[in-house]
Amino acid sequence: MITPVRWTAYRVPPTVFRPRNTRAAAIVYLPNFLDAEDFALIQAEVAHERRKCLAEENSIAEGRLGTYITPTSPILETLVTQQTAARIAGKLARVQSNTTTTSKNNKNNDNDGGYVRLRVGDFPVEMRVYPSGSHMPWHADEALYVEPQVEVVYTVANTSDSLTEWREEDGTVVSERTAPNSLLAIVAEGWEHRVTPVRRGERTILKFVLTTTDTKLTTFEDNLSRPNYRTPQRTKKKKNLQKKR
Ligand SMILES: [Fe+2]
Repeated sequence: MITPVRWTAYRVPPTVFRPRNTRAAAIVYLPNFLDAEDFALIQAEVAHERRKCLAEENSIAEGRLGTYITPTSPILETLVTQQTAARIAGKLARVQSNTTTTSKNNKNNDNDGGYVRLRVGDFPVEMRVYPSGSHMPWHADEALYVEPQVEVVYTVANTSDSLTEWREEDGTVVSERTAPNSLLAIVAEGWEHRVTPVRRGERTILKFVLTTTDTKLTTFEDNLSRPNYRTPQRTKKKKNLQKKR
């Protein structure tokens, strides 16, 4: 008897073609970002969210607290907007244009980095608090999209002695004590940066992501699905265990 050939349908995992990153690895600092009314609104909302903050897990930052901001929060419609994206895009495009026109190796004509397409990404907005004793060591942000996203750090309050530092292309280290109502835009996989240890005071920021593409890397889901903040239930369990002993 002849056994009939059985054809098996193989599921081929989708592959994502990732073009070479031709962007200038820039960081831009924009002080006095919002007008007084919008800044006051953000301050009030952040004061309200502060009580939700929990110790961070699975982060290279030490001693930091944080929480996700609910998508219905007025923070989003005030700060995380297309208008914000457009202002950052303009600044980054100028930096990119200056870098690529002066670079002898630049052979492509796309010298604005494609930032004109910059828009709000769908990674949740986070609030992060750096209390006394916290810090973040040198690192470059991981790409979440096929075209590296722009990570935005908006400082809401800063009574700390901590500095945000970054290393430019030529190795120059820039230090900034990020002022309340300032914004720092950081291109992922770009310049290394860190937050020096807080010895006194506290720094509170909002963090969100801008993107020029909707095509994500697996790192997007990896970052979202792992436990990022210690849940109250788990803290409770720990307390109960301690009680049992
Ligand atoms: Fe970072």
